[in-house]
Amino acid sequence: MPPPKILIVGCGIAGPTLASFLLLSDVPPSQKPHITILEREAKGRAHLRGQNIDIRGAGVTIIRKLGLEAQIRAATTGEEGVQLVDENNTVWSQRGVDKTGTIQSGTADIEILRGRLSELCWKNSQRISAEAEAGGARGIEYIFGDCLREIKQKDDKVHVLLAKSGERRIFDLIVGADGMQSRTRKLVWGEEGEKERLKPIGMYAGFFSIPREDHDGNWRRWFHAPDRRGIMIRPDGVGARSTIFMYVVNDKDPRFLEVANKGNGNAQAQKALLEEYFKDAGWECERIIREMKVTDDFYYDTVSQVKMDTWNKGRVVLLGDAGYCASPISGMGTTLAFSAAYKLAGYLQTYIKGESSDPFSSLVKYNEQMRPIVEDAQQLAPGQPHVYNPETAWGIWILHVLVFSLSYTRILFIVTKFFGRILHLGPQAADYVPVEEFGFKDMSQWEVDDAGRKR
Ligand SMILES: Cc1cc2nc3c(=O)[nH]c(=O)nc-3n(C[C@H](O)[C@H](O)[C@H](O)COP(=O)(O)OP(=O)(O)OC[C@H]3O[C@@H](n4cnc5c(N)ncnc54)[C@H](O)[C@@H]3O)c2cc1C
Ligand SMILES: *[C@@H]1O[C@H](CO)[C@@H](O)[C@H](O)[C@H]1NC(C)=O
Repeated sequence: MPPPKILIVGCGIAGPTLASFLLLSDVPPSQKPHITILEREAKGRAHLRGQNIDIRGAGVTIIRKLGLEAQIRAATTGEEGVQLVDENNTVWSQRGVDKTGTIQSGTADIEILRGRLSELCWKNSQRISAEAEAGGARGIEYIFGDCLREIKQKDDKVHVLLAKSGERRIFDLIVGADGMQSRTRKLVWGEEGEKERLKPIGMYAGFFSIPREDHDGNWRRWFHAPDRRGIMIRPDGVGARSTIFMYVVNDKDPRFLEVANKGNGNAQAQKALLEEYFKDAGWECERIIREMKVTDDFYYDTVSQVKMDTWNKGRVVLLGDAGYCASPISGMGTTLAFSAAYKLAGYLQTYIKGESSDPFSSLVKYNEQMRPIVEDAQQLAPGQPHVYNPETAWGIWILHVLVFSLSYTRILFIVTKFFGRILHLGPQAADYVPVEEFGFKDMSQWEVDDAGRKR
């Protein structure tokens, strides 16, 4: 049997991770799969946007296996913890990063910018590909700046049409790792059912960066404004800029969804809407809005979860946010993407080794194993996001006083430690994602210098 031809759509976090593990399979070079990664964004833009994300629990084990841990740790944002502040920047309570690993709190041990992480994942896959090529295997083919227009399954193959180049290609398996708004999902499962699959949780957010000012420091400052509005200002790890997460919890104004649906070509309208909602919010909003207007890394979306009964249809399978986005407020997105990519590569071993002639038993296993993990990750704390984002100034005051007293008396820590798992207070689920052994080549000893070259 010739090696399977696999198309991975999306060069974010999950896509290049899957490609890397597939090439690290314990099979002779001639048997390694032929992998193509198709990324919609142009090379220079693909790894520009996205702000602070974290890697926890099982996710840390996986980046170690990829030989990425040292590079990622060298590129973290250095966030020291979370502070709740009011309009005068008075700190009502603060919670530092938990380095002991006792509980998963707001700030993880590994905090990194999403663009930087996806770039590291991509470059690492290139190095793994170069090694495989040197050993006689076919390396990864990367296509940037194009996407799929058509996916058709017939006779054990998947036929695709590329939108820009107009090229037709044939694959044995397609993996849609193209994020929450996955076009692979829409093409294969149909546009009609999208309402049932992509579930907004009533929160809309802009992510971007602004020039850093001295008082920004290394703590995340979280400001609440009435009408369930909030802003987090966070360190970027480099020092020249601070990152912004600006959100509104709103079930009434349809424009939040409308501007999201038009996608990233619609940044002007998205910025204008956020400006309208924050221009009278006080605090540092004037500075943040002024800088938002000129930033080049603006990204806006609904905060949503993707829910589906199965993650494959024939030879097309969804991976990461595309199939089961848990949303940024779950704190689980990156860890899910890493562990799912690792598992999918693992379950596909029987297919790659030729022990089974098609990928279906692997995909059944993937569905079965991911189901409980996804359900756990998608459970948000009771009342999220409404309780955490009060309607009135009074509500905000009560939130501040409550969190202040609960953390001062350490009740918050104790409750999180003993009940955090069942109440889903924070992303405790990250510690419970199993990491099986699949016999991949272990890259953890792959020491690299800053330039990314082997020593
Ligand atoms: C631009 C961007 C910014 C983000 N910023 C944040 C953030 O600030 N905070 C946060 O918590 N999470 C953010 N996320 C989500 C976060 O990256 C994911 O939750 C998580 O890392 C899971 O990764 P993934 O690989 O499944 O999906 P993603 O990281 O979303 O990667 C999907 C990839 O597929 C590409 N793609 C999309 N559509 C197509 C298509 N039709 N054809 C080909 N390629 C396509 C995208 O450009 C992207 O590179 C962001 C995602 C993106 C795409
Ligand atoms: C912030 O300071 C101003 C001026 O001192 C004061 O009027 C206001 O009540 C303060 N806000 C809060 C939330 O304490």
